[in-house]
Amino acid sequence: MKKEETRNLILNIFNNRYTCKGYDANKKVSDEDFAVIMEAARLSPSSMGLEPWKFVLLNNRELREKIKPFAWGAEVSLDGASHFVLILARKPVDLKPDSDYVEYIMNDIQHFTDDLRAARKNKLKSFQEDDLKIAGNDRAFFDWACKQTYIPLANMLTAAAMLGVDSTPMEGFNTEKVEVVLVQEGILDPVHFGLSCMIAFGYKNRDHRPKTRRKTEEILETIE
Ligand SMILES: Cc1cc2nc3c(=O)[nH]c(=O)nc-3n(C[C@H](O)[C@H](O)[C@H](O)COP(=O)(O)O)c2cc1C
Repeated sequence: MKKEETRNLILNIFNNRYTCKGYDANKKVSDEDFAVIMEAARLSPSSMGLEPWKFVLLNNRELREKIKPFAWGAEVSLDGASHFVLILARKPVDLKPDSDYVEYIMNDIQHFTDDLRAARKNKLKSFQEDDLKIAGNDRAFFDWACKQTYIPLANMLTAAAMLGVDSTPMEGFNTEKVEVVLVQEGILDPVHFGLSCMIAFGYKNRDHRPKTRRKTEEILETIE
């Protein structure tokens, strides 16, 4: 593909992606399309490659109903979306340099040597303590993981748009109350995970509002 075509393709996708506010419950996203959307999530970057997330595909209609009272921003998606995904973020216990999870990532996934693992864990420690200043503050620590989950969230939105699949990113819910349901239902292990955000996929049953955005001059400042 020529550069000019690629530019136009990118602009078309971002101009045409929109937040779906009503789904046709009879239309299903294909397994093939959903697998690609999930790959966009899986391949997303994360701080030091720790992949501090997990995705829960919520097909169960009863469970969707149980969440609904506490998820005002997700009502229409819980009703009609073909695929509804909870994005969980890792708790501090898993992201501290001496955790089993960090060892697992650096050894089994990243295949770092013993020396490199030790060096990376030291770096992670000073990064969390001195730079991010999240050590000792569980809320800030968890928020660090949550922030990172918005990268797969965004990548999934774009992948879906490229496939002609409509989508909804969501944080319109009461985290505490939804988490209670998820824990009761055995979906969430609160020691290791918390709920960060949600995303739905499907096909619209109504038209959406035209896109509104500020101009580039308003959001971009260039320093020469
Ligand atoms: C982090 C985040 C959270 C959002 N939460 C919700 C939500 O709970 N429910 C909803 O219907 N839309 C939600 N939205 C969609 C926004 O309202 C929407 O992206 C914005 O109005 C711009 O419209 P567009 O996506 O159609 O371009 C959310 C978007 C983002 C990025």
